[in-house]
Amino acid sequence: MTSPLHSDSVAVHAGRADLTALGVHAPPLDLSSTYPLPDPERGGESYEAMATGGHPLPDGGAVYARLWNPTVARFETALAQLEQTATAVAFGSGMAAMTAAILAHTAMAGRPHVVAVRPLYGGTDHLLATGLLGTEVTFCAESEVAARIRPDTGLVILETPANPTLDLVDIAAVAGQAGDVPLLVDNTFATPVLQNPVTLGATMALHSATKYLGGHGDVVAGVIACGEATAGRLRQVRAVTGGLLHPWGAYLLHRGLATLPVRMRAQQDSARRIAAWLAGHPAVARVHYPGLDGDPRGLLGRQSRGPGAMVSIALRGGFEAACRLTTGTRLFTHAVSLGGVDSLIQHPAALTHRPVPAHARPSADLVRLSIGLEHAGDLIADLDRALAATVPPRRSS
Ligand SMILES: Cc1ncc(COP(=O)(O)O)c(C=O)c1O
Repeated sequence: MTSPLHSDSVAVHAGRADLTALGVHAPPLDLSSTYPLPDPERGGESYEAMATGGHPLPDGGAVYARLWNPTVARFETALAQLEQTATAVAFGSGMAAMTAAILAHTAMAGRPHVVAVRPLYGGTDHLLATGLLGTEVTFCAESEVAARIRPDTGLVILETPANPTLDLVDIAAVAGQAGDVPLLVDNTFATPVLQNPVTLGATMALHSATKYLGGHGDVVAGVIACGEATAGRLRQVRAVTGGLLHPWGAYLLHRGLATLPVRMRAQQDSARRIAAWLAGHPAVARVHYPGLDGDPRGLLGRQSRGPGAMVSIALRGGFEAACRLTTGTRLFTHAVSLGGVDSLIQHPAALTHRPVPAHARPSADLVRLSIGLEHAGDLIADLDRALAATVPPRRSS
């Protein structure tokens, strides 16, 4: 019996098991939009299987690329191995994945109510608050989940670490509160390198794959790791609504997975150093970074393998200082998104969380940093220079 591989090795080898038999070393990229059919009947049966959430039949063909694509399936296999789930389902964006998860557990299940633990990414908050998908949402704190669940609740949603405050939510405790109601955990910030929500009791682990999984700022994608029954419903929604990931994106994401553990650890090392340095800076009122407060609930150590590489800071100079900082850095690009090899800086209340109602929106003094692979010393020097400009000059008396 062979011992299970370390996740670093899984990241390199996942989704490649058949390559030697195929006689290739790099995974093939299939860009077909349609596929030759054996005959109408077997093609039709394969179509039926995929449109209802299954896989193409071996003798029926893949029929049409909105239903299934082998390059996408290869990425899904690899991601599922990293998340330690039976399977995964990939989508054209993180929000397409979120939409499918909501539809599969509300409209399809006849349970239109969703319980969501705030804070969440602004787009998710907005999607739920608008009721665009026919849902009714109850936003609540982590401790209130059980009390907010109703007979028509189809889904519980949480994010940890949460965007943009880096709040930690106890996945196992919320799964316990949710009981039979499926729990979706947005695992974008932690990645499967640092956290595997399904092993802690969640039903689904969702990623905006646009972020760390891709890692190079050149793919927009989403993916949900889960069990086979859940995946069937998600694939069905995907086939019907047309949310499939483009195979070129899937190819790049699969390629990105091989370096994900190394990138994540290097970015996290820098983030730790930068967060500690920021905590001592006179222009900074507060640093949001998991573990910086000593992990009082023991959550970081219990459910994750590290705090990650996102850092948020509240500035003593308020909104004005936050604006000066975001436009004053040189190595940090002023841009939304996160998780890439290059560092980004942005103002959540003005941008990523703009649609969130004022009472739940991040504070105006908050700036979010995505720490990349540049040298931590260079990033600190960049922040030091830009932070100096956030402090209004002293008036001479
Ligand atoms: C935590 C989180 N979840 C979901 C999303 C949505 O993903 P996408 O932009 O790929 O649709 C984002 C995007 O920023 C995010 O930060």
